[in-house]
Amino acid sequence: MQYTEGMLREGALKGKNYIVTGGGTGLGRSMTKYLLELGAQVVITSRKIDVLQSTAKELEKETGGKVLPVACDVRENEQIEEVIKQAEAEWGQVHGLLNNAAGNFISPTERLSHRAFSAVLDIVLKGTAQFTLAMGKRWIDQKQTGVFLNIVTTYSWTGSGYVVPSACAKAGVLALTRSLAVEWAKYGIRSNAIAPGPFPTEGAWSRLLPGDLAEKFDLAKRVPLKRVGEHQELANLAAYLLSDFSAFVNGEVVTIDGGEWLKGAGEFNMLDMVSPDMWDAVEKMRGK
Ligand code: HXC
Ligand code: NAP
Repeated sequence: MQYTEGMLREGALKGKNYIVTGGGTGLGRSMTKYLLELGAQVVITSRKIDVLQSTAKELEKETGGKVLPVACDVRENEQIEEVIKQAEAEWGQVHGLLNNAAGNFISPTERLSHRAFSAVLDIVLKGTAQFTLAMGKRWIDQKQTGVFLNIVTTYSWTGSGYVVPSACAKAGVLALTRSLAVEWAKYGIRSNAIAPGPFPTEGAWSRLLPGDLAEKFDLAKRVPLKRVGEHQELANLAAYLLSDFSAFVNGEVVTIDGGEWLKGAGEFNMLDMVSPDMWDAVEKMRGK
């Protein structure tokens, strides 16, 4: 058994229908692929219909599952309503929404225009909130249960320089997750989040580590486990949290980062740079 393998049993999500925002690329694509492998049907949405269509074709071929690509800018409420309508028309009921779409870029905050700040907030916080609201209202009206899974980051609670709009927006998404976990539990609607550490994707890494920054700042080195994430291990966690196996998990944010954020937080964690010889010298100094 390895972390690069699928975790749930075959057919575990048979009969389930999910919507994945940002499902055409990167982590959204990988999570969608695993949901399909487990027997679910998935609507993938984002702004670029050509990307969605070719992903849908590839994933159907690779998994034998059913994918419905629907263009939707998460900033546009009418388009969100249309996605839900099309999903229900095709499959009757939606069982879960994976809010994965995001926009981000790296910049000293004082260089950002107010429009730049809003661009990220609108996609990440308002887009997630609007999709969640539309889906939640639908489930409540139809007396259906459902599950939300929101992709945040570890800087949702620490904050982070140089990605400040994203940090503000993801913190809001985490607050949304925890708030609705309690408020909508009475309708049988669960809300959880995943906070991934570094998982290589073209979309995130070309924006966050452009040019030769990727070589200068090897993210694997920041991780106590000395590696970046594998898409399958994130997909395993997402499938579990979207499935009924996690029926009692509600309001949780699961970090999957190899210990990265805690390494930055612990006062003395930098001492892992101290060699065994140096520790020997320290012990000698205290007369051991
Ligand atoms: C500063 C920038 C900028 C940049 C755009 N802007 N890029 N400012 N640095 N790199 C400014 C523009 O000048 C403009 O302001 C305003 O932002 C809006 O720009 P548009 O291009 O019109 O916006 P839009 O088309 O809505 O594009 C949204 C976007 C774009 C966020 C700017 O990057 C995008 O579509 N990204 C989607 C995919 C993505 O970002 N994926 C990564 C998710 S990764 P002015 O004032 O000039 O009009 C992630 C990982 C986290 O979140 C953790 C990793 C470890
Ligand atoms: P990605 O491939 O760039 O994914 C972002 C997706 O969001 C794209 O498919 C994009 O598609 C879609 N999107 C952007 N703006 C949108 C809008 N206005 N409406 C609808 N869809 C929109 O990057 P990724 O790395 O896979 O990121 C996926 C998620 O993981 C994000 O929430 C990100 O914050 C999170 N995350 C990633 C990492 C990492 O290391 N990769 C770490 C922590 C968290 P279109 O351009 O077609 O719209």
